[in-house]
Amino acid sequence: MNKYLFEINDFSTDNDELMLHETLFHNANGYLGVRSNYEEGYPENYNSIRGMYINGFYDFAEMKQAEKLYGFVEEKQTMVNIVDTQGIKLFIDGEEFSLFQGNVLKSSRTLDMRKGITKRTILWRSPNNREVEIVITRMASFTMLPLFTIDYQVTAKNFSGEVKFVSTHIGNVQNYFNPDDPRVAAKSFKHIHVEKVDVQEGVSIISSKTSKSDLQVWSAVKNILSKEASVQQHVHSHSIECEITTDIDQDETVSFSKYTILCDSIRYENGRDKALELMNEATNKTFAGLYEEQEDFLTHYWENASVDVDGDDELSMAIYYNLYQLLQSVGKDRFSNVAAKGLSGEGYEGHYFWDTEMYIQPFFLLTQPDIVKNLIEYRYNILDFAREHAKIMGHTKGALYPWRTIMGKECSGYYPSGSAQYHINGDIAYSVINYYLVTKDLDFIANKGVEILFETARLWIDTGHFHEGKFMIHNVTGPDEYTCVVNNNYYTNALAQHNLKWAVKFYELLEAENLTSVIEKIGLKRSEIETFKQAAEQMYLPYNEEMDINPQDDSFLSKKVWDFENTPKDKYPLLLHYHPLHLYRHQVCKQADTVLAHFILEDAQSLSTIENSFAYYEKITTHDSSLSTCIYSIVASKLKQYDKAYEYFGESAKLDLFNTHKNTKDGIHTANMGGNYMAIVYGFGGLRIKEDGLHFAPALPEKWTGYNFKVRFEDSTIFVKVEGGNCTFSLQNGSNKSIYVYGKSYDLKDSLIIPLEEKSNVL
Ligand code: BGC
Repeated sequence: MNKYLFEINDFSTDNDELMLHETLFHNANGYLGVRSNYEEGYPENYNSIRGMYINGFYDFAEMKQAEKLYGFVEEKQTMVNIVDTQGIKLFIDGEEFSLFQGNVLKSSRTLDMRKGITKRTILWRSPNNREVEIVITRMASFTMLPLFTIDYQVTAKNFSGEVKFVSTHIGNVQNYFNPDDPRVAAKSFKHIHVEKVDVQEGVSIISSKTSKSDLQVWSAVKNILSKEASVQQHVHSHSIECEITTDIDQDETVSFSKYTILCDSIRYENGRDKALELMNEATNKTFAGLYEEQEDFLTHYWENASVDVDGDDELSMAIYYNLYQLLQSVGKDRFSNVAAKGLSGEGYEGHYFWDTEMYIQPFFLLTQPDIVKNLIEYRYNILDFAREHAKIMGHTKGALYPWRTIMGKECSGYYPSGSAQYHINGDIAYSVINYYLVTKDLDFIANKGVEILFETARLWIDTGHFHEGKFMIHNVTGPDEYTCVVNNNYYTNALAQHNLKWAVKFYELLEAENLTSVIEKIGLKRSEIETFKQAAEQMYLPYNEEMDINPQDDSFLSKKVWDFENTPKDKYPLLLHYHPLHLYRHQVCKQADTVLAHFILEDAQSLSTIENSFAYYEKITTHDSSLSTCIYSIVASKLKQYDKAYEYFGESAKLDLFNTHKNTKDGIHTANMGGNYMAIVYGFGGLRIKEDGLHFAPALPEKWTGYNFKVRFEDSTIFVKVEGGNCTFSLQNGSNKSIYVYGKSYDLKDSLIIPLEEKSNVL
């Protein structure tokens, strides 16, 4: 089995399955994303979420609040479906190709993750018995981010005659909505308006503008046929149609190439000229040349990113699928980040959450730290909005990052499980600290990173208070969205403590190095640092001595436990079936909360407390959020409960491929994909990034014969291979490193073979 290939037998009349495939086979490159809609379209009674998006390109939309209380968000941002250049209709001797008529002899869809392309392969017999083979290859270029291509090849199997392509470029498009699902937009609204349609030297160009955000986008399309043909361009007010007609002989293959370039006004000063210039550059290359560049790029990507599992091919492919999707989703510039659904669909309206810092960055940090630098740079760019948001929320100091956003302003409609999730500040700070620990990039920290850290630290001081010798943080929501607006959420307090501690450390480091420009810029006083220190030292972390667990918050353990026994399966996810207040009154968790804190800040508690907490929360966690099972897997590994770890890991690995959350049609679950990587590297591999260096505690799940991965640490690349009874660490490049394996320090020069700890290897 080729682990780079994901292939399915595609033809289905099941509408839900078609929409699922639109997501699973989407093409994206971190800048643009195109859902995998059929070029020829669907019958009228079919639903399809037909979309093309640009990362970070948004419009504003009204957010109606039933009661206008102070500070409630009244306007959100939404990722815009900008244009439709996917359309290609095919006519053979006048008969229109459609999978919904005639005879489908074969229809498959493939994603090739080494080549960076998707393919539809169809053998079709028309109602009048003309047989054609159609192969359609799509690519979102990783080397020219505004470029998307469709390479459409038709072979006449049993006839000679006429072949006609009708290629469309449509500006009049709309976003998807569903009033019954809180996870997608509820209302239809026209976010984009066509301003101009024209054709210049065979390139059709549509200029469009958003309704409220005043952003512009230019889409350019060029159609090229491999042989002489008659070409007619029909220019309409909102679209352009290009008709290309030629002859085809029996057994002849005719190739039709469609190039799309998308440029927006966020990145390009003169997007129209840029689009034309890039179109020229792209069409000067052959598809073969473009494919070669794509493959070279991916060869390099996989060299660092691959995680190989021996002994389970299907799982290996699922892991590759997840890592490929992370690359497709991650923003490659300071204007964008990683949307919860990447660029694959409209779920959560293209918003960026804490998902990036806690679930996705760990993968890029260990494989391509430059990408993490960009992602932090994005947070740095929106720091002023975070300062403004803090003021709206009543704070006099510091910055509060928005719970969900695109351009920096808060988009949470429902504050109890939105803006109240102050932990996002700690999550962002945590990611800045980890970036430093892995890269030691003091320059970036001194100029940008610390500004984030100091402002988030200030916010904790402004939010919390000292009470009877303890620092407390009241009325916030932790990661578990089934428990809202509580006092002293353990996760939040533990992260705030970490944030404050490191703000002090960096302050001292920068003073010692005489790198004080940010300290001066934001007027940070020594007395504030003293308060940071005191708050960190006296941070209140809820602990129940009798049970030896960390309660999720002050009131959590006094609530009724949810009646799981009498909750039918079809009532999950609970959020779609029970009023929020009803959920809040019970001990029931949507996702890992305290258990996540036990993973990221494991040294804050004893092993017995972590073990007891894990056992306690496991019983009351529904994993209704896709951000949960991967974390349970990691902590189960830490506790050497490998059977459980493996089970949770399996659930997370195939979540989208098997559509287990039943909403993959709205987009992939990027956080889970990053979490799945963590379940191997941090879970089974036991990797932790600590101040004294990299720690490992590898174990081998019984079902595998081995696994391996690479990590970048400071100036070095370390290859880790677990196989048989050993774990081998090889230094592939860079300077010697001290690493810790099962808590013992080793000097890594060339390679090091350490026997697996006996107990870790036993299920
Ligand atoms: C989860 C959040 C997450 C969001 C976006 C929600 O269901 O509860 O933790 O940030 O989805 O993925």
